[in-house]
Amino acid sequence: MFPKAVFPDTAEINPQGHLVIGGCAAPDLAAEYGTPVYVLDEATIRARCHSFVSEFQSRYPAARVAYACKAFINPALARLLYEEGLGFDVVSGGELATVVNALQLGQSGRPELDHVYFHGNNKTPQELAEALEQSIGWVVVDSFHELELLNRLAGEAGKTQNILLRVSPGIDPHTHVYTTTGILDSKFGFSIQTGHAALAVRQALAAPNLNLRGLHFHLGSPVFELEPYRVATELVLRFAAEFREEGLQLQQFSPGGGFAVAYTRDQSPPSVAAYAETIVSAMTATCDDLGMEPPALVVEPGRSIIGPAGVALYRVGAIKDIPGVRKFLSVDGGMGDNIRPALYQAQYEVLAANRANDALSEKVTIAGKYCESGDLLASDVMLPPLEPGDLLAVPVAGAYCPSMASNYNLNPRPPMVLAANGASRLIRRRETYQDLTHCDVA
Ligand SMILES: Cc1ncc(COP(=O)(O)O)c(C=O)c1O
Repeated sequence: MFPKAVFPDTAEINPQGHLVIGGCAAPDLAAEYGTPVYVLDEATIRARCHSFVSEFQSRYPAARVAYACKAFINPALARLLYEEGLGFDVVSGGELATVVNALQLGQSGRPELDHVYFHGNNKTPQELAEALEQSIGWVVVDSFHELELLNRLAGEAGKTQNILLRVSPGIDPHTHVYTTTGILDSKFGFSIQTGHAALAVRQALAAPNLNLRGLHFHLGSPVFELEPYRVATELVLRFAAEFREEGLQLQQFSPGGGFAVAYTRDQSPPSVAAYAETIVSAMTATCDDLGMEPPALVVEPGRSIIGPAGVALYRVGAIKDIPGVRKFLSVDGGMGDNIRPALYQAQYEVLAANRANDALSEKVTIAGKYCESGDLLASDVMLPPLEPGDLLAVPVAGAYCPSMASNYNLNPRPPMVLAANGASRLIRRRETYQDLTHCDVA
């Protein structure tokens, strides 16, 4: 059966048994752009953006949605997200430059970066200088080192930089240890528990070239539970209230991102409305209780905007059947375009994109083409009997697949295509062999 819930909104199976995304049939996309290829459904991206903006703003008008670029960003996507009214959360000079350059397209002069947030646990002096140079709206300061460095660099630039502090509330959101960030034993943020967060607030308030306007936390990702957001929101707001008399005016508050999406048919993450209701009600109730003016709210979804919009298409090549053990179907991509199964045992659905109406009669393992035994995209999935040349689709490939892609084994990274209303357009071309050695000096 077609697991529609994990595919983009427009996905359907046509009478020929072909997967169709944005009105474009998978075999046609594969023929035009080659495989592997990431296909993004424009309607899903826009609908997800709209859902975040409307669910949060209808409950709390002073809410903003900043897209977490780490999930994936490129110029075409940045323009599209900007059109939908989103701000941006960037974590490197590269992400910042990409967003700034994309927003500059079609407008004269420098774009307003009021809704751009610079995150990261070890921003380099160069990256901070670039952020100051670009007059970025917000730097989310993550360490004492950064507090001192940014204060000094802002002073040298003759600027006062608006900042948030990233605090670690010490709450476990029960996701994979590699993607858990808000607990005590984490490299991110100032721990409230150890007293470091209190020290950081005082240091930031005393820094002449920094303007401390609020607090941020991020629990991890994907977070399938609502309760950690509620508990952490209340805890961080109560922490903030302790510093009112010392001059902390909480104008902005951010519970980060981490909103879950379903990767497999058995998962049912909370709706965007449920996340919004939990966060907004926890925030307004706590502020009420504390007699505190509620701050502007900033949420930072990444995966939940772009993840479900993306489908990776692969072509089947070698097939190895080990009787009584396992049947491997090798595809023309793998850990170079989707590291998540190898990195944190992520699970995916797999669909035969050109035989989607055939009976699922074989249990197979989908192997990549990279020289690692751990390069498996999915284990023990049910598919129809397939042959070399058949097409496989892996859904929810929009987030943390293209952005974490590598050139391991010197494989060119795949192209990316935006599909809408029966038409497709390339928003990133396939890399060439020349690209692979482009930076090398002979
Ligand atoms: C500070 C911050 N905000 C937002 C996100 C986005 O998370 P997700 O893509 O799961 O929404 C992350 C992810 O690591 C993050 O570190």
